[in-house]
Amino acid sequence: MSQPLSSSPKEPETQRSDASGDTRKVLRVLSGIQPTGRFHWGNYFGAIRQYIELQNEHEAYYFIANLHALTTIRNRDVLRQNTWDAALDLLALGLDPNRAALFLQSDVPQVTELCWLLMTGAPMGLLERCHAYKEKKEKGLPADAGLFTYPVLMAADILAYDADLVPVGEDQVQHIEVCRDLARSFNHQFGPVFTMPRAKVLEHAARVPGIDGQKMSKSYQNTIEIFEEPQSMRKKVMRIVTDPRPMEQPKDPETDRLYQLYSLFVSEAEREQMAALYRRGGFGYGQVKQALADAAEQYFAEAREKRRALAARPEQVREILAAGAEKARRKASEVLARARDAMGLTW
Ligand code: TYM
Repeated sequence: MSQPLSSSPKEPETQRSDASGDTRKVLRVLSGIQPTGRFHWGNYFGAIRQYIELQNEHEAYYFIANLHALTTIRNRDVLRQNTWDAALDLLALGLDPNRAALFLQSDVPQVTELCWLLMTGAPMGLLERCHAYKEKKEKGLPADAGLFTYPVLMAADILAYDADLVPVGEDQVQHIEVCRDLARSFNHQFGPVFTMPRAKVLEHAARVPGIDGQKMSKSYQNTIEIFEEPQSMRKKVMRIVTDPRPMEQPKDPETDRLYQLYSLFVSEAEREQMAALYRRGGFGYGQVKQALADAAEQYFAEAREKRRALAARPEQVREILAAGAEKARRKASEVLARARDAMGLTW
């Protein structure tokens, strides 16, 4: 990361906590999620579940990052369908439009203008170190300006709403650090325009593993989708790669990815019971996989029903997105006006 230009603020850069450990003050929470395919367990436990929890205590803005998705999806119908599915998924999972603004990133043009203002002061070296671009380049794949400047648009997304807290999985923390660097540098040059945001990462779900043990991610094709048909979900669970040691041998549950996934879905007591089974040994992974599939099916059953009902009311979903966008534009206009004025773009 680049050197801070002014003295560091006192608050930590990333807030790590369990689901309950949050601060009392009402904060402004913001996060975005790309409509690059159907959402998976990693998206849910790393991010979406936090969105839902935080909307109850804080002022929340959540958006579907369709402009970011353009860096990978170059097909109109696919992007439109994914965007629609994303809205239905989020609402079905509990995002409450009476508590949080839900909108499309592209419905707030103030953000793309702010992105340019930030781009004029974004050091090349800072962006060259960002992992999405760096990985592509290292693999010798062609990268475009959209991918290279992706973190600046993300910084604009966050700064445009004076966000205090950004709930995300661990893979997004680097981008939020870039956002903080850009905000700090801007404030140093032009005066105190931007609020300094913090990432909020849940310790136990910072990096949900996929069926091959790597981070669950669409790009690794190792995902299990939230609303996957139960039969197909079960098949994937059965394919989760497990520890090759013999059944009789006791095992440490904390280092086992099957146990990690199971823990996400069950109560403290069930988790403890399973951990004891691991420590004792003499059990089969088939048994744990069965328990995981049952728990997952039950966990999302209610949301699945809700999604079905919502899909039958497209008008209502459109209204929710329009109202969310209007609220978001109001806030973003206010922040953009501050930035324009500070930079000398107003008379
Ligand atoms: P995206 O769309 O890749 O992922 C959405 C959210 O899901 C989290 N996540 C995970 N968490 C834990 N374990 C996993 N295996 C896992 N996979 C995904 C991500 O960390 C993320 O929180 N650049 C962002 C979208 C974005 C954004 C923003 C986020 C655009 N502007 C402003 C916050 C603020 C992205 O690509 O997320």
